Amino acid sequence: MSHMLPFTDPRSAEGRNPKTMVSGRGCHVTDTEGNEYLDAVAGLWCASLGFSNERLVEAASKQLSTLPYYHSFLGRTAAVTDALARKLTEKLPVGMTKIFFGSSGSEAVDTAVKLTHFYQNARGKPEKKRVVARQGAYHGSGALSAGLTGLDYCHIGFDLPGAMVLRTGRPHYFGDAEPGESETAFSRRRARELDALIVEAGPESVAAFIGEPVMGSGGVVPPPDGYWEAVQEVLARHDVLLIADEVITGFGRTGSWFASQRYGLRPAMLTMAKQMTGAYFPMSALALESNVAEVIEKHAHELGTLGHGFTYGGHPVGAAVALEAVRIYEEMDLPNHVADRSNALNAALAPIKANPRVGNVRVIGLMAGVELVDGRDPATKLARRVADEAERRGVLFRVIGPILGISPPYVVSDAEVELIGRTLVESLDAAVRAEGY
Ligand SMILES: Cc1ncc(COP(=O)(O)O)c(C=O)c1O
Repeated sequence: MSHMLPFTDPRSAEGRNPKTMVSGRGCHVTDTEGNEYLDAVAGLWCASLGFSNERLVEAASKQLSTLPYYHSFLGRTAAVTDALARKLTEKLPVGMTKIFFGSSGSEAVDTAVKLTHFYQNARGKPEKKRVVARQGAYHGSGALSAGLTGLDYCHIGFDLPGAMVLRTGRPHYFGDAEPGESETAFSRRRARELDALIVEAGPESVAAFIGEPVMGSGGVVPPPDGYWEAVQEVLARHDVLLIADEVITGFGRTGSWFASQRYGLRPAMLTMAKQMTGAYFPMSALALESNVAEVIEKHAHELGTLGHGFTYGGHPVGAAVALEAVRIYEEMDLPNHVADRSNALNAALAPIKANPRVGNVRVIGLMAGVELVDGRDPATKLARRVADEAERRGVLFRVIGPILGISPPYVVSDAEVELIGRTLVESLDAAVRAEGY
């Protein structure tokens, strides 16, 4: 085929014959064969308002017929993009007052790293450039963002720039805690390891720490008790900026507008994308805390310009769609709505805990991970089989090693949530039989 697919083995059956979608309605998508699927992962965690929201379509259509494109370079911009920037600052954690737009999560992360470096140069600390990122993190596929990503399959064969990155442990309590270690003790251990890493590298060389408030592509990993508090204490001690990567968690996925609010993060920079437009238009943004933004803007003024930007960053069609998405989220009372759907998802996933192959079920807002085990080992092959069985039954899950990822659209109904839970139970039973457990 002429289409080279991301994160796909090009020679596998999947690569030769990809499941090809042609239409969507509500939480469902339909392929070329006429098969309909309940997409329990909203595409890539992003189609928060389902696949047929008329208001988003209308917002895009109206903008396309008034101003279909304008950039934000060289002192020009579009009114709708400017209005979105203002609206976002109302929803963001207090003190985040500046917005820089891009088109993808990877661009937002690259912008965060570049502006971190720019900031440290502006402060007269040109040696303070390294960025701490965690094992299991996913921060994107650009050279810088993939370099920060802590998943082997994103690095192998690519020789990504690595000298800038310091790697620290992931916050996966279920996977990585010592026997008998409490969540708080595990969090404190991770914070001590981070401290030792920064001290060994030399705090004068460490600019920032990047982390997803809840890890997504690394397996739906929520922070254990006390984690962010302990980590932020270490960062503050060493004058290291916090970059919250909220590409997945922004706009309600974990139950608050931004997960930083839920977990008490005080980031210097915050990335967002995905739910920002309900995935109807590729758009991302980096939000900056006001003092950090002030230093960057002052330095850019001294240099005569901020020499960074993307042709499609802040695209007016994306901005119009994002403004409408935010309006819809406000009308649905986002935090309460997600809390209600989260309770339903929790209840639907309760029965699967009885299966001895299920080691851990994690539900955070409308993100969930069901981790499968074989004794004490991760059951990766079994998880793949479960997803195949579920697909045959008409429900799409995401496989993350031994974990089944779930992140339905926010508009998921009670009946659909129950179907997700029931299908998972049946698919796991069928997979266990087929794999001969
Ligand atoms: C936390 C996080 N950061 C960054 C990205 C990269 O976003 P994009 O694929 O839009 O470049 C992703 C994508 O899944 C993500 O989950």
